[in-house]
Amino acid sequence: MTTILGIESSCDETAAALVTGDRTILAQRIASQDEAHRPYGGVVPEIAARAHAERLAPLIEATLADAGMTLDQVDAIAATAGPGLIGGVMVGLVTAKALAMATGKPLIAINHLEGHALSPRLADGALEYPYLLLLVSGGHCQILLVEGVGKFRRLATTIDDALGEAFDKSAKLLGLGYPGGPAMERLALAGDAKKVPLPRPLKGSDEPHFSFAGLKSAVMRAKQSGQYSDADIAASFQQAAIDCLIDRARRALAAAGPVNALVVAGGVAANKAIRGALEALAAEHALDFVAPPLALCTDNAAMIAWAGVERFALGQSDPLDVAARPRWPL
Ligand code: KG4
Ligand code: ZN
Repeated sequence: MTTILGIESSCDETAAALVTGDRTILAQRIASQDEAHRPYGGVVPEIAARAHAERLAPLIEATLADAGMTLDQVDAIAATAGPGLIGGVMVGLVTAKALAMATGKPLIAINHLEGHALSPRLADGALEYPYLLLLVSGGHCQILLVEGVGKFRRLATTIDDALGEAFDKSAKLLGLGYPGGPAMERLALAGDAKKVPLPRPLKGSDEPHFSFAGLKSAVMRAKQSGQYSDADIAASFQQAAIDCLIDRARRALAAAGPVNALVVAGGVAANKAIRGALEALAAEHALDFVAPPLALCTDNAAMIAWAGVERFALGQSDPLDVAARPRWPL
């Protein structure tokens, strides 16, 4: 059975995982840097890179120990090679190269977005290509037709903020901590989504894309007006975001042609209200709805290892001089 070591370090999670070809996560460890970045209200690239450099090697050793394995028993080493904060990406990729060189095992350079995009197949063995994927995180907001490993058709992207970014920035305006998404979802539970009139940018538009900057600005004006409770603003924001997401997803479903499932991945997929709305949309189209478990939705190394499993099965690997890429569209 193939076993792949996965390494993730493109943002503020240092992570390692061991995943097999039959979808077993033998071990995984994630060291979050939330505490280090919280005073700044966002991820500071230099702090992130230093933290990855300090933590990654012991984290990989601990992950191997958890599984009772040595590197010799691993078939290949998969690491995120981009897109992301380049200092962190380089720490992970250089570490993977060193391990590959020392052991003679193949190196597999993974696009972080492909990691998110294929993670639903790690969670659900029955999920077949093609599927329509909503990739919604702090850095990305895309609708992709996933036709196979490395075969993606981007149907929509954001023209300004990503959905998770809109959650984070709106949370900051309400004085909630970082990361803002989970805090907004919690606060929204106590609010009335109909109280605050907020825009639905690009809803009903002929073009396929997302826009959230205007929604965030409207949240700022609502807060400054002093007319509304924070909980009502949070609930109204979340509902506006959901309305936009569903409208864009409905349009993409019409454009994509036949698919096997509607799938959501990325950190924002942790949001239960968003999951619920997407599940209803899938049911409306008689499609399966697939959302990986929450731990696989936010950044993790199991998804990188799994993308490595899929590429390894196709006989793919990368040379040791493969470059780390700050930008890397799918
Ligand atoms: O995938 P991820 O861990 O990192 C990126 O690649 O961006 O996603 C993190 C993003 C953050 O913007 C965070 O606020 C958002 O996902 N997020 C949420 C929730 N949990 C995380 N947004 C809304 N509701 C949540 N429950
Ligand atoms: Zn991510």
